[in-house]
Amino acid sequence: MDVRTAIQTRRSVRRFDSARPVSDEDVAAVLEAARRAPSWKNNQPWRFVAVRSAAMKDKIVSAVPEDNPARKAIASASVVIVMLGVPAEGEVHQDKAFYLVDCGIAGQNLFLQVVELGLASVWVALVDGPAVCRALEAPAGWECVGIFPIGYPLEGEYNKSPRPRKAIVEVCFLDRVGNPLPL
Ligand SMILES: Cc1cc2nc3c(=O)[nH]c(=O)nc-3n(C[C@H](O)[C@H](O)[C@H](O)COP(=O)(O)O)c2cc1C
Repeated sequence: MDVRTAIQTRRSVRRFDSARPVSDEDVAAVLEAARRAPSWKNNQPWRFVAVRSAAMKDKIVSAVPEDNPARKAIASASVVIVMLGVPAEGEVHQDKAFYLVDCGIAGQNLFLQVVELGLASVWVALVDGPAVCRALEAPAGWECVGIFPIGYPLEGEYNKSPRPRKAIVEVCFLDRVGNPLPL
């Protein structure tokens, strides 16, 4: 699968085939993709915890609000990767916390690798981050930036219509904001 296809077919999947485990090799490939991401000054202000243990998954689920549609995805995922940000390893410029930008790129690398492997995921961020950090015994100051439940998608999950995007004319311009691209 090429990058364009991975980008175009990627979507958030919240229902997995719990009978099909994700191999350790695939987990390693996904983590490798994440840690290859570019970062401000190559700070790499991220850490990744691959959670396989049912007990730890339960602790993570209990940190996710009940109305979060991704809650069940964590319980049914073969592996859950928690991306922890390390703010002290990042820098803040013009009020922009670059560790969050860096983690965002790593998260998308991770996600696209998931898609290329025929797996599925969803980025989960609406969680009690400090509770997740405590459960994982993360050092003080680290933050939970994203949780990625990963599994094989249930039949049909990739055939659902994609969530819509804003029109190109609304978000892409030529030379100055507001000037449309000649498409
Ligand atoms: C930073 C971030 C946080 C997100 N947090 C959640 C979440 O807590 N729960 C959830 O169900 N989906 C979450 N999502 C998934 C978005 O709802 C989803 O990406 C968006 O609706 C677009 O759909 P698509 O990924 O299928 O293209 C999150 C996505 C991002 C990028």
